[in-house]
Amino acid sequence: MSLWLPVLLAFLISALGGLYLLGAFRRRRPKEPPLDKGHIPWLGHALDFRSNSVEFLQKMQRKYGDIFTVLLGGYYFTFVMDPLSFRSIVKEARSAFDFVCFKKEVDERVFGYYHLENEQKIDEIVNKHLMGDGLVVMSQAIMKNMQNLMFYRAGTVEGQKEWQHDGLFHYCSNILFQAGYLSFFGNEAVKRMGSKEKVKEFDRVHSEELFSKFRKFNSLFPGLVYGTLPPKDKLEAERLKRLFWNMLSFKKTMQKDNSSRWIIDHHQFREEQGMAEYMADRYMLTLLWSSQGNTGPACFWLLLFLMKHPEAMKAVREEVEKVLKESNQDVKSGGPLINLTSDMLTKTPILDSAVEETLRLTAAPFLMRSITQDMDFKMADGREYTLRKGDRITIFPYIALQMDPEVHPEPHQFKYDRFLNPDGTKKADFYKNGKKVKDFTMPWGAGVSVCPGRFFAKNEIKQLVFHMLAYFDFELVNAEEDIPPIDQSRWGLGVIHPTHDTQFRYRLHF
Ligand code: HEM
Repeated sequence: MSLWLPVLLAFLISALGGLYLLGAFRRRRPKEPPLDKGHIPWLGHALDFRSNSVEFLQKMQRKYGDIFTVLLGGYYFTFVMDPLSFRSIVKEARSAFDFVCFKKEVDERVFGYYHLENEQKIDEIVNKHLMGDGLVVMSQAIMKNMQNLMFYRAGTVEGQKEWQHDGLFHYCSNILFQAGYLSFFGNEAVKRMGSKEKVKEFDRVHSEELFSKFRKFNSLFPGLVYGTLPPKDKLEAERLKRLFWNMLSFKKTMQKDNSSRWIIDHHQFREEQGMAEYMADRYMLTLLWSSQGNTGPACFWLLLFLMKHPEAMKAVREEVEKVLKESNQDVKSGGPLINLTSDMLTKTPILDSAVEETLRLTAAPFLMRSITQDMDFKMADGREYTLRKGDRITIFPYIALQMDPEVHPEPHQFKYDRFLNPDGTKKADFYKNGKKVKDFTMPWGAGVSVCPGRFFAKNEIKQLVFHMLAYFDFELVNAEEDIPPIDQSRWGLGVIHPTHDTQFRYRLHF
């Protein structure tokens, strides 16, 4: 008996400790948001959440209202579903809601990048290359690369108006990936290849190969984020990561022509802080994914919506023709390619509205912060809650804002002019409960983690659409085909993907 007692006690203590770690004893404290731990210890609602996050969150919202805490895979997430309260979360001092600690986890698990202990935030210095004059340079660079890729694909033999067939998702993702990659990581050096024509050919082939690897990596991305990849896919992801670390290495980038300052500075600032070169190389994969993961899908949805809404297509086409005419440029057989300047891109309010509307319908990131101290939190209507240190606070503007019928009537409809006033200027007045909603869409995130590439991204999407309209006839192969359903596994990770591609065809006007 005396021998069994300590064994029994030890068992009891470890069982209780295990249950504690699994969250079995957590109770809702006074003033905390409603708590739902689900029925499975530790996992909580993780399975429902993963299988369809939108349905799950809408169910919880119906049950608990616009703030609630749920257990998901060992973490407690407090979701705030009232768009009027978003500002106080994204503008909260960094010391209370921390983004970095959350980003560190994702960077390690997904990209194999380990932050320095005290990594300085260098984004403000580096991201200037994606704004102002830097943006002009980058937008020119991507235009040149885009033209090289688009006209090569179309088969530029004059007078030969052959239709080219492709999946629209594949086409947009491919062109924007290749053009974006070349603009950031550089073109092959003319000195090495011997001529500009050889460089163009090399760049096309090399970036196409890299795109096929990126597609594979992107398909494994949700599993990497949630840590749910089966062993075989995990090995494949590791193989691909190594390939990218090598392909994007600083040594390779510096041997090329036209590598962007954004990439070079990101690398150099890390090395100056004492980071090993191989680790700084790994950071390049996070930049590649951030810059290439969303623009192709966004462009796919925009072109698909335009093809499905002839009145929208007509309005955007007329605007493109007007802007071209005002710049005194002609699109003609044998003539020089257009120079789509940054200035021209500021004169497209209709296209801007169509882009904004597309992102409202398809950009669905989760915006998360770690709660670093027990704290009070006040909702916009004055209700007060306490939040617990160690939990995560999350907003999902896609359902809480972008699909809110009060803010955006008929939210599931594509209305190309939703963000235009009757006089054609940009509309910025949207209301909920009679109060103005300052952030009426949030495709780019907000606050400390707002997307630094948002101006560049908008430009490149507009550049692709502009070139398509200026130079090409294009149409769906089957005009009756429905818009494809959404791949439910990618909610929260950025712009949504379709479950399958939509075939289209295109040819040069002349
Ligand atoms: C349609 C295209 C794009 C969308 C919808 C988009 C959206 C976003 C969102 C929502 C975030 C914040 C994520 C978070 O809070 O966790 C983000 C971060 C980021 N984006 Fe974008 N993005 C796009 C294109 C781009 C492009 C073209 C670039 C680069 C040129 C870029 C660079 C970045 C970087 C570096 C971050 C990380 C910022 C940080 O960690 O603080 N993005 N993006």
